[in-house]
Amino acid sequence: MAQANTVDTIEVIPSGKALGAEIRGIDLSKETPEDVRDVLKKAWADHLVLLFRGQKLEDEHLLAAADIFGGQQLAGSRAFFLKAGFKPGETHRVASKAGISIVSNLDKDGKPVKYTEAVGSLELDWHTDNSYVDVPPAGSLLHARIVPVDGGGETSFNNQYLAYETLPDDLQQEIDGKHIRHDNLRNTAGRFRPTVEPPKSREDIEGPAHPIVRIHPVTGKRALYLGRKYEWPSSHVVELDDAASEDLLTRLWRHATQDRFKWTHSWIAGDLVQWDNRCTMHQRNPVDHTQPRVLHRALIKGESIISAWNPEAAA
Ligand SMILES: [Fe+2]
Repeated sequence: MAQANTVDTIEVIPSGKALGAEIRGIDLSKETPEDVRDVLKKAWADHLVLLFRGQKLEDEHLLAAADIFGGQQLAGSRAFFLKAGFKPGETHRVASKAGISIVSNLDKDGKPVKYTEAVGSLELDWHTDNSYVDVPPAGSLLHARIVPVDGGGETSFNNQYLAYETLPDDLQQEIDGKHIRHDNLRNTAGRFRPTVEPPKSREDIEGPAHPIVRIHPVTGKRALYLGRKYEWPSSHVVELDDAASEDLLTRLWRHATQDRFKWTHSWIAGDLVQWDNRCTMHQRNPVDHTQPRVLHRALIKGESIISAWNPEAAA
């Protein structure tokens, strides 16, 4: 058995931006005793996004890392792929281990391409992972196995506590008590999932309604929770008509995605980045699709959303 990690070697180095910190002095392929876990959990609550460099991790280590922070959760997309006939381990999207998603731009022959089911080369707009399920994952862990050299694919993160705290008064009042229905018909790249018929009106949109502001179960702080904005008809404010919903969402997204809330990470192989889906969003630059890019992702188990409109109702 490899030597366990100890608290003596851990360093937490803040990014100096609105969120993010690098954790040094830990090897996540080794055991993490309870006191080390406590340090990591506190760093996550304080900094929202953690970067661990130089990690040699198999999928089982990635899943063990998810266990440190609350357990594992299956990706919402997995069920769509299985329903469409994809077999676990057979493609570059559906991993053999249920808790793992593969983010890859390789085709079936292992060649990098622009379009795959794993959306590995495309630019991704701001979003939070799996907001389209009833109980979204608390966090995500993404481990870089192969990344392009100077080939794009940088990931940016933003701080949605700050976005909430700096909301102008008019927006603050307009969102009070309101909810967004989170479209589950599209994938992260905005494309329709296998077997899905494109919607014609908001009545065709499937997905849960979540409060626009949620309370973080660990920090007790309030964060904007916007999910993802797609082309209409899609996610919308439940309590407003179509035009008013689009208008409010456009203004909220403009506010929430300002550069002052952001930190950008440039990947090197061996990086593990862990983010909190309850109080951050992320976005990816386009990838040079002539270069291979393969990352493995695990999700950290979420808990029922605590609504800022009705905090005592949380399960
Ligand atoms: Fe994502």
